[in-house]
Amino acid sequence: MNTLARLMLEHSAEMLMLVEPSTLQIVLASARVASALGYPPEKLTGMPITDIESALQDVFYWEDVKNGICQEVQQQEDQYRCASGEMLTVSKSIRRVAHEGSSLLLVRATLTQDVRQVQDELAHALSRLRATLESTGNGILVIDWRGQVNSMNRQFSKMWALPEALLQTQDDQRILEFIAESVQEADLLRNRLKAIVDPQETTDTLRHNDGRVFEFSSRPQYLDEQIIGRVFSVQDITQRTLDAQALRESHDQLEARVQSRTADLHALNKVLLAEKERLAVLVKELEAAQGQLMQSERMASIGQLAAGVAHEINNPVGFVNSNLGSLQTYVDGMLRLLSAYQQVEADLPQALRDQIAAVKKEVDFEFMRDDITALVSESLDGLKRVTRIVQDLKNFSHVGESEHQWADLEAGLESTLRVVWNELKYKAEVVKEFAGMPQVWCYPFQLNQVFMNLLVNASQALRDKGKISVRTGFDESQVWVEVQDSGQGIAPEHLPRIFDPFFTTKPVGKGTGLGLSLSYDIVKKHGGRIEVNSVLGKGTTFTVFLPRSAPEGAPAGP
Ligand SMILES: Nc1ncnc2c1ncn2[C@@H]1O[C@H](COP(=O)(O)OP(=O)(O)OP(=O)(O)O)[C@@H](O)[C@H]1O
Ligand SMILES: [Mg+2]
Repeated sequence: MNTLARLMLEHSAEMLMLVEPSTLQIVLASARVASALGYPPEKLTGMPITDIESALQDVFYWEDVKNGICQEVQQQEDQYRCASGEMLTVSKSIRRVAHEGSSLLLVRATLTQDVRQVQDELAHALSRLRATLESTGNGILVIDWRGQVNSMNRQFSKMWALPEALLQTQDDQRILEFIAESVQEADLLRNRLKAIVDPQETTDTLRHNDGRVFEFSSRPQYLDEQIIGRVFSVQDITQRTLDAQALRESHDQLEARVQSRTADLHALNKVLLAEKERLAVLVKELEAAQGQLMQSERMASIGQLAAGVAHEINNPVGFVNSNLGSLQTYVDGMLRLLSAYQQVEADLPQALRDQIAAVKKEVDFEFMRDDITALVSESLDGLKRVTRIVQDLKNFSHVGESEHQWADLEAGLESTLRVVWNELKYKAEVVKEFAGMPQVWCYPFQLNQVFMNLLVNASQALRDKGKISVRTGFDESQVWVEVQDSGQGIAPEHLPRIFDPFFTTKPVGKGTGLGLSLSYDIVKKHGGRIEVNSVLGKGTTFTVFLPRSAPEGAPAGP
């Protein structure tokens, strides 16, 4: 036997034995016989076959063979004895073969246990595969490399609603065409179903004509390196798609709501901010109003005090004045009487004259006589001045005259000037240029306060000494009062703020910054306006304009 034949014999999975019919001895045995039955290979050659085939019917069979009766055997089950004495079930065939003129018997046996095991395992694997295929929720279709449908699970045919009649035809091309036609992406699916040996994996979303949505994926089926088919898997993702869409929509809605709420909040915030600003303005206005109220109340109580003092002084001044008048008359009478006495003095005895001369000297009669008249008239003068001051105070304060009235503002200016005279007299040369303005329908005390503020400001603006001019004027429709000073002037950046409540450039304690704001309000209430003209370092002019016309219902002017 050549080496190639030996090689084949050694690697054959079958047990092969050549038996000499006359001796029943094994002439040649394949390697598989030794390995399956456990005999040493060298022992097998020459061993009687009946040592292995030792069952009773075998012994009879081989006895017949020995006696020249030989029947061929086809796939017969038998028991083979191993070296260990154990019996193994085999499937065997026996044929007669010719060898160099004589005949030999070729025994071929396979261990049925092995085959069964493999068959069993295969059956198990197949059943597992089928069960897996059927139990998956996905539809599975397997097409082989020739384009024929290899297998398809029930889920697949259900998903595609494949008609039973069509399945019965087993016409693969018609079935595949039916599948392709069922979706809107028919061309794409047709191509996918044809591209069996494509090494790529694919995943597509397909829309079934009835509205369902499928995720359709495919992957090649390999046997070793070779692609032998393709597995297609289909999943119904309709609900998932709907859910995703619903989620997207609700997300969009939510976003829109968030945006609209944010916009609302922004708007609200704007309103709140505006409201806050309005409140801040209101609070400022309230503070200003309160300040002005306090200032005007202060002024009112000063007026009241002045008026009270004036009233109180008025009475004693009245009777002192009248008494002084009488005193002057009496003094004149007494002096006349004294002259009469003096004329008869020479007729008196010397002793009496000496006595009188001594008294005269003692009281400094000559001086007294001259001085007494001067004293009385000076006192009367002083009293006149007190009376005027009292009158000025009364004029200035106009207490008890809280009603509108026709008033002479120039007279008001005069009395105001006298009231603040103390403040002005050391610093200012005051020049009055009055035009004889007509009376005005007004609250005189309030306007006097305005004039007082302007005069005090003017005086405070003078550094050392300076000039304050007070002018009046009028035309048909209005009157005006002008207070001009030669003081330091107002810085341009301060000018827009001087009428603001609490704006002051004066040191703490000197100015509250309310004078001009209060004046502005009083003049506005009278239907007038205040104008200011200032040159830094040169001086300032404030002009108060007031309407001449009285409102309807007011008594006619003088
Ligand atoms: N005649 C003026 N010359 C220069 N500056 C003036 C004059 N009048 C007003 N001002 C400026 O305007 C500011 C505001 O004047 P306002 O009369 O309102 O307050 P004030 O005089 O400072 O204080 P208050 O009058 O309450 O005592 C002053 O502080 C000053 O800076
Ligand atoms: Mg002031």
